[in-house]
Amino acid sequence: MTDRPYIEAEKLCKSYKMPHGVVEVLTDLSLEVKRGEHLCIMGASGSGKSTLLHLLAGLDTPDSGEVRVENERLNEWSESQRSAFRARHVGVVFQHYHLLPDLTVLENALLPVRALKTWGSPGRKQVEAAKTQLDRVGLGHRLEHRPVELSGGEQQRLALARALMNDPELLLADEPTGNLDAVTGDHLLDDLFTLSRERNRTLVIVTHDPRLAERCHRTFHLR
Ligand SMILES: Nc1ncnc2c1ncn2[C@@H]1O[C@H](COP(=O)(O)OP(=O)(O)OP(=O)(O)O)[C@@H](O)[C@H]1O
Ligand SMILES: [Mg+2]
Repeated sequence: MTDRPYIEAEKLCKSYKMPHGVVEVLTDLSLEVKRGEHLCIMGASGSGKSTLLHLLAGLDTPDSGEVRVENERLNEWSESQRSAFRARHVGVVFQHYHLLPDLTVLENALLPVRALKTWGSPGRKQVEAAKTQLDRVGLGHRLEHRPVELSGGEQQRLALARALMNDPELLLADEPTGNLDAVTGDHLLDDLFTLSRERNRTLVIVTHDPRLAERCHRTFHLR
């Protein structure tokens, strides 16, 4: 871990305007994650954990406050600058996976590679890298399946494999082991934490699992 923050949130406010009133989700939330830090985010259901991850990824914009990546203000970037930043530097495991239903497992895993190449076709080396990544999460024998033909845990493992495809500096993972049995989850996390330590990668992981929290450097509690 280094002393410099990689990503920071300052006084983030986020609310949703609904017909029956305003839902205040985050109020003046500030947070700093150092490069190489493994941060766990915990909090009750509905406390705003997924909302926070989406703001950190620049997938959504706050009502006020800002997100900075290495001192650059994410919210001042254009949509396409934010997409390019995500493609190059960020892996996201969504709570509900967001796998593309018409693509095979292998094609889903290759999406981040294609995003980096502004939607060009992946090369043979990259296809091999995707297969290796899918092997690591135990999906080597499911390459031609579609997401509906996978179990919940397999879909979750695909989501993690996809997020790691471009070896991102920052991984934002929303309950990445919530659908896995303890043995499979531990095995994946061993791999993830070893790799992240070796490469000084920054992890922000939302979880309800205290055992996963214990493996992180620090836990941030959302109320
Ligand atoms: N698009 C939206 N429109 C309106 N309200 C929303 C929207 N997204 C989230 N909310 C509300 O914001 C609050 C926080 O949602 P969020 O998904 O961030 O919670 P969470 O902490 O991730 O919960 P969980 O542990 O159940 O995944 C919830 O009360 C939810 O109802
Ligand atoms: Mg959530």
